[in-house]
Amino acid sequence: MANKATKCCFNHFIRRFSTPAIPAYNFIPKAYTGPSIAKTDSLKLNHISPVVYDLYKKPLIIHQGSMQWLYDHEGRRYLDLFGGIVTVSVGHCHPWIGIPTQVYQITSFYPRLRPGLTSTQAYRQPNISHAGFYNALLPDPYRGIWGGCRDSLSQVPDACSCRGDCVTSDKYAHQLSELLENSVPAGRVAALFAESIQGVNGALQFPKGYLRKAYQLIKNYGGLYVADEVQTGFGRTGDTFWGFENQGFTPDIVTMAKGIGNGFPLAAVVTTKEIAAAHAQAAYFNTFGGNPLAAAAGKAVLEVIEEENLQENNKVMGRYFIEQLMELQKIHPVIGDVRGKGLMLGLDLIKPGTKEPMPVDQFKNIFETIKDLGVLIGRGGRWNNVLRIKPPMCINKQDVDFSISVLDEAFKRHKY
Ligand SMILES: Cc1ncc(COP(=O)(O)O)c(C=O)c1O
Repeated sequence: MANKATKCCFNHFIRRFSTPAIPAYNFIPKAYTGPSIAKTDSLKLNHISPVVYDLYKKPLIIHQGSMQWLYDHEGRRYLDLFGGIVTVSVGHCHPWIGIPTQVYQITSFYPRLRPGLTSTQAYRQPNISHAGFYNALLPDPYRGIWGGCRDSLSQVPDACSCRGDCVTSDKYAHQLSELLENSVPAGRVAALFAESIQGVNGALQFPKGYLRKAYQLIKNYGGLYVADEVQTGFGRTGDTFWGFENQGFTPDIVTMAKGIGNGFPLAAVVTTKEIAAAHAQAAYFNTFGGNPLAAAAGKAVLEVIEEENLQENNKVMGRYFIEQLMELQKIHPVIGDVRGKGLMLGLDLIKPGTKEPMPVDQFKNIFETIKDLGVLIGRGGRWNNVLRIKPPMCINKQDVDFSISVLDEAFKRHKY
């Protein structure tokens, strides 16, 4: 019989290495017959730009997808909490959407490319900024100089709890007015671009009322407001179909992409007739402009979102998810901030007891363990220290429970 000491060690061993059980799913992936990891490594090394990099220390070849699940070259199943950066909206290879299913067996960013235009430091090339672009101070309730409260179940510790607009929204808006007044050439303000919730920057939400004040300001200066709904659109934030609808104003221009096509390359810009007419002052042409195939894919995606009531699922699952993440935050001091709305959530990982971002090597270990335990999660933020959760909108309660168990286990295995 094991004595007390060995029994204790044994229990410790079991606890340390317990593996959360993956929910059942009835799907048999095809056998992978493509090149080996070693072969893809050599192809990448010799023929692909180094800007395309592996996300994981032990890389994956994802070769098939079904709804919220992805399969690797060894047939192992993963819960996809990132959807190829919020691109897979209604599920991989959704059975109703014939075109993308046939043309794009999966969509994935493993390995991934760095996107284009953003002020997020991690994505900036070491060049001077484009002339004519100005960045406003980031109204960040967690690390911003004035803090603030936001439209989320989860607030930063010791945040204000303003009824209506947050008191700090005036201060941040004042900073924006200073920028418009003193930095931008007088009378030449073109437009303000903003996401309703910052995606790549780690599900970062602004203090309540800030965006509406920013909208009013830009209108006062004769500019347009462009709402980037590439990540926040299509019901993802739960309460409303578009993120800006939570803010109480109508933008002049709305840009959309990613989730609109569920993996099919499709984007759209929506605006008024007057603004669209201004675009016709010069010739405009685009090789990959609108086409019937893309339009059919987009229409099918919109129908699925409506038929399957996915906006409501985002609301219900998003609420449950963030409640569970807030519970995790109570027991894992590396979680500095839990934020977001609907199925657009972020966990800001820190050095416990500070607001300093978790060092990148430590973050990578946790990130890798989450993958090894069967969950593919996103990564972002100014210091790349935010776990981003933006799954296909079809996830269910079992999937959330599994994700929480995996996160819990990953944090337990890496106590920093
Ligand atoms: C919020 C946001 N806007 C715009 C883009 C650019 O979209 P696209 O790659 O379709 O040009 C991205 C890409 O990641 C994004 O996240």
